[in-house]
Parts: sequence; structure tokens; C-alpha cells
Amino acid sequence: MIERKPEPYKIKMVETIKLISGEEREKAIEAAGYNQFALKSNDVFIDLLTDSGTGAMSDNQWAGMMLGDESYAGSRNYYNLESAVQDIIGYKYVIPTHQGRGAENVLFPLLIKNKGDYVLNNMHFDTTKAHVELKGGRAINLVIEDAYNTEKEHPFKGNFDLEKTEAFIQEKGVQNCSFIIVTVTCNSAGGQPISMENIRGVREIANKHGLKVIFDAARFAENAYFIKQREDGYQNKGIIEIIREMFSYGDGLTMSAKKDAIVNMGGMIAIKEDEELFTLARSMVVPIEGFPTYGGLSGRDMEALARGLYEGSDEAYLESRINQVAYLGQRLIDAGIPIQRPTGGHAVFVDCKKFCPHIPYYQFPAQSVTVELYKEAGVRGVEIGSFLLGRDPETGENIESPLELLRLTIPRRVYTYNHMDFIADALIKIWDRRHELKGYEFTYEPQVLRHFTAKLKPVE
Ligand code: F0G
Repeated sequence: MIERKPEPYKIKMVETIKLISGEEREKAIEAAGYNQFALKSNDVFIDLLTDSGTGAMSDNQWAGMMLGDESYAGSRNYYNLESAVQDIIGYKYVIPTHQGRGAENVLFPLLIKNKGDYVLNNMHFDTTKAHVELKGGRAINLVIEDAYNTEKEHPFKGNFDLEKTEAFIQEKGVQNCSFIIVTVTCNSAGGQPISMENIRGVREIANKHGLKVIFDAARFAENAYFIKQREDGYQNKGIIEIIREMFSYGDGLTMSAKKDAIVNMGGMIAIKEDEELFTLARSMVVPIEGFPTYGGLSGRDMEALARGLYEGSDEAYLESRINQVAYLGQRLIDAGIPIQRPTGGHAVFVDCKKFCPHIPYYQFPAQSVTVELYKEAGVRGVEIGSFLLGRDPETGENIESPLELLRLTIPRRVYTYNHMDFIADALIKIWDRRHELKGYEFTYEPQVLRHFTAKLKPVE
């Protein structure tokens, strides 16, 4: 049992949510083709689809929005953002973008020089992989093997396998490798952190081979908090001090600010000191995202983002955030439900290969649990498994994902411990009748990114 701790904030505005009846939920999910992406949010009681852009902004951020300077060029809010980035992250240059994938779209073509070049990552998030591939690169995941073993406790399951990384570069030749991405925290492995020691190791490999290190920085503050909690030598350091050290090992970053910077929309590219790369990125951002001092954001958005970077890095807030997620994870563990352990930063990942061993991967066990949780309690989670992964482009066969996960992603500062209990109770009920769950098959399967628009039906 993890203790419930009082949130270090009070609530001064609320949004009503409604739990529609079981019969209505049954109809809604059937009409959605048993695909949670097609549900209307009004039919959802607790929305755990993502922690991206779903956080609650503070009074300080909302007040900042009133100070938005909507100038096309040189908005004061841009300079506030620039000074927040220089202060917290320690990088000289910043270019705002509309969200994380906008940053990837601008920066990656500048780094991937030749078709077929490898991009090395602990684990690519799906849009990051897509952008690497769209630019002709090949996305390689080099996370430690323990990341795939949900039962194994490891403090830093987002770590690179450094030996494998070095061996990969040796084998393929450094001339065929573009750059290294360090994803903090490692979303696809279960919101798992990467240690400072491991980041340093990545930097050493990069230095040896003359490769750039770019952070995928969506959940940078949660990663820093885990380092403080779990890594020797960091217990007495401040979160911002740890963040600065982490980023000191990189050359630049792309950031989805919709996570740890707690804004509903926003992102950025930041570059440590490479003026040439900055100049290139600054020219490329104009036709893609917008003029370099706004990059797809309004002045007010940049102000909320500048303030959110500080709020998201506040230790009391992070402690409360991580504890809430861990509380939900522990309630499930106590009931015997298999989850990725230890619980990650932004979400609890339920291991549905173990939850429903009777459902084969091509009938999507994690999708089955996702649908059931909605039917049971109006809680919308998301499948991260074989349904998401798609088919082998050559053989057309369904690819078996190494993990079949239901991600219960917790928005920041939005739900309370009562909501966590409600979610846990619902999932425990399903666990008790797990043998009755059925697999799913397609009634409509799109060619690309099927996860978002496919329609399914239960297998009879
Ligand atoms: N990198 C990581 C690690 C992410 O988790 C995401 C988004 C992105 C990049 C792309 O950022 O959405 O602002 O364009 N993750 C969301 C999620 C969508 O649900 O995990 P974006």
C-alpha cells in the first residue's frame, strides 16, 4: 500500500464529468468499433488515453496567458521562454514548435544525411519512429533487455544497453549512423527512467564516434525526479540541477511540452551551442511551423509554456505526481494484477499477455482489456501492443509485439486518489473474470496507423 499524500495545490475550477449507464457504454463502444479512439469524450468518465496536452494549467499559467504578446516576430513571451530554457535546460538556442512531432519534423531531416541511415534510441515513441522513417532513416531501439520483462524490478528500465549500442555502431559502421536519441523517460518501455550514469555512457559512445546526442525530452522532469530518488549521489541535489546535468550530455532536444511542461499545446527544439545547426533549424521552421520566434504557437501559449517548465520541475509537484501514479500501480500489484514494474512516471502499464494468456496476439489481448475497462467503468485507457504495431510491410502478417500493454495514462493535476481507487476497483473486477474476456478481429483495417481508425468486433 502506498500512502495517499495531500496534493500540493488546491482546486479552484472544476469540470463536470459524467458516468453514463452500462447500457449506454455498451452502445457507445460498439458504435466506436471497439476502438477507444473513436469514442466521444462526453461518453468517457475518466480519460486515461494520454497524459499529453491533458494536464490542468495553474492560475499562474492562466494569468500568464493574459500577458500574451501576439506579435508576429519577437514576442516578449518568446524571450521569456528562451530565458526559461536557458535557465532550466542550459541550452542557448530555442525554437518553439506546435508540438513534439513538429520539432521532430523540422530537426530530423537536418540530421539524417543519407537514406537508410540508422537512428539509435533507447526506444522510439511511435511518431518519433515515423519521422525517422519519413526522412529515410531506420529507427533502432537499444533499450536493455530487462525493459521487456515486466516482472523484473529495475530502477532504470529506460537505460540503453551500452554494449549493444557500441556493437551496433561497430557492426554497421559509424558512417551509416545519423545520431542518437535519448528518450526521457522511456514512454514505450512503460514510462521508465534512464539513469545519469547511463546517459553519460551514451555521451561517451557518441564522443568516441563523433555522433550527436539529441534528447526526446517530453518527460524530462519525471526522469530527473527518478534520478534523485534512485541514483546514488543525487539525493541532495535539486531537480533543476539534475535536469541541467542530464541535458549537459546532449547537443540538442526535441520536446513535446504537452507532458512535463503542463500545457495543452506546445513543443520546441532547443540546441545547446551548435550555431550552424540552430541556423539551419531556424530557416527550416519558417515554412513548416512558422516564424522562429513563434513556431506555431501564439504568444500566450509560449508564456504558459515558459511558466510550465518551472512548475513541472518543482519537486513538491513531482513527488505528488509520481506518488499518485505509483499508488494506482501498487493497488493493482496488491490485487495480483501483472504490471510493468516498477510503476512508471506517467502511467501504469498493465501486462495483458499475462492478464489474458488465452487470447493470442493477433486477437489483441490488451485491446480486449481496454474495451472491458471502458464497459465496466467508463475509463478509457489505450492499447500499446500488437494492435498498435500493425503488419509486416513485406509479408502482410500481424507482427507480434514483445509486450501487450494497456496503458493507464494519468493526466497531470487532473484526477484525485478517489479516481485512482475507482480505476483500480474496476480493473480488479475484470481481473476476477478475466477468463471470460474475448479477443477481437477487424471489420475494417486501414493500411497505415490502423490503431487510430480501425473497427473491430469480438471473436465469437
Ligand atoms: N516523444 C515522446 C516520448 C512522446 O511520448 C510523444 C507523444 C512525442 C514524442 C510526440 O509529441 O504528441 O507533442 O507531437 N506522446 C503522446 C502519448 C501522444 O500519448 O504518449 P507530440
